[in-house]
Amino acid sequence: MDLTRLATSICETAEALSSQPTIDLQERVELLRACEKLSAIIEHPNSRLEKATVAISPIVAARVAINLGIFDFVHNSGKEEFTSDEIASHTGGDPLLICRILRSLTASGIFNVTLGGTYSPGPMVKDLAPGGYLASRIIMNFDIHFQIFAKLPEYLRDNQYRSPENAYAGPFQYVFDTNEHYFNWMKSRPSQMDAFNRTMQAGVERDNSARWTQIFPVEQRFQRFLSTSSPVDEELQLVDVGGGIGHEIRILLDTLPSLQGHFTLQDVPGVIQSMLPELQITVPATQTVKAMPYDFFEPQPVTRAHVYFLGRVLHDWPDAQARSILQHIRNAMGKDSVLLIHDRVLPDDAAKVHLSDTIMDFNMMALCSSLERTEAQFRELLGSVGLDLVRVWRPETAGLHRQAVLEAVRADSVNDK
Ligand SMILES: C[S@@+](CC[C@H](N)C(=O)[O-])C[C@H]1O[C@@H](n2cnc3c(N)ncnc32)[C@H](O)[C@@H]1O
Repeated sequence: MDLTRLATSICETAEALSSQPTIDLQERVELLRACEKLSAIIEHPNSRLEKATVAISPIVAARVAINLGIFDFVHNSGKEEFTSDEIASHTGGDPLLICRILRSLTASGIFNVTLGGTYSPGPMVKDLAPGGYLASRIIMNFDIHFQIFAKLPEYLRDNQYRSPENAYAGPFQYVFDTNEHYFNWMKSRPSQMDAFNRTMQAGVERDNSARWTQIFPVEQRFQRFLSTSSPVDEELQLVDVGGGIGHEIRILLDTLPSLQGHFTLQDVPGVIQSMLPELQITVPATQTVKAMPYDFFEPQPVTRAHVYFLGRVLHDWPDAQARSILQHIRNAMGKDSVLLIHDRVLPDDAAKVHLSDTIMDFNMMALCSSLERTEAQFRELLGSVGLDLVRVWRPETAGLHRQAVLEAVRADSVNDK
């Protein structure tokens, strides 16, 4: 194989792609996968780990820029170009430091440098401005994740290298010197809570393939509740347990606007009070969304609903608490109820586990003493509380997020059929 010709052809392809206006998400994912495969073969074996050891500096630059209000200024000024000195004088930062920060942000693709040496903000700047998805994520990572990661080796050494499994005495509590769970701790820190909720919402909104309605065949399965088919004689009862501010319900209603039903959004009081405003006034009146403060370690008050939905909840909890959450749902389920679990499901084959799966698994270990589970681990967990895993729905092509939907029913209802 002529490797020089191959390199030239890759560069030409990149050049051609850069003038293509948009690349569809699915195509983007496939291209990225192909590039990753190629670099895994040609990169020096040490290179991946080595890069990870220095990868922090672009995020440090972004965090400092957030603190200085650079993105806020640039995004809201209405101007298209800025000199480094202009940004320095607006933010009060030392001109040399601002210059170094802007250079780093440019190398990360956040700014472009014009021929005249001024900086023009790229599309990422809006996500880095206050309230933006990337700003929230960076704040959360700096203030919490990185603090824990810095001490995780020490924590694991002090705990005889056991995999953390105590939700109330794990790496998070060790570093933040508390015995509160991360979710409880956030209640008295509104900016952290806000960053967390925004990150959760953005994760599913940005990537179609992460939407549960793209994975589970909602139209086919909820056909009888759609007002377009024939007059419905029954309305869907769906309970979203630990549903955050309601984005998963909203995605369902956006996907199936003629769905008739009653949707109960359950979460802790501090979260439920921020339920998305568009869910508070639902049109048509045949759709109602009720916000219900509820602790999922208590008996489930809504019994015999058609669907119980748990989106990205179980990965927050080690087995003891996950079992308790599931047990309460199991006790409320009727024989025809279905439990849908929208979560990352790791392949049982370790060779197929993706780097992003392992990153998220370590995040869960650090924050919640919990884990990302394989299909076999989910099956066992569900079986331990009398639930049967009937199917794992996976996206046709995995996107940036590697979510699946697990469908479970009461084990005794399977035996009856
Ligand atoms: C990772 S978020 C998932 C939110 C949403 N389901 C989604 O997929 O984006 C987990 C949610 O569980 C909620 N939660 C934590 N402890 C809870 C409890 N004891 N009872 C009810 N909800 C709780 C949190 O407030 C948070 O909204």
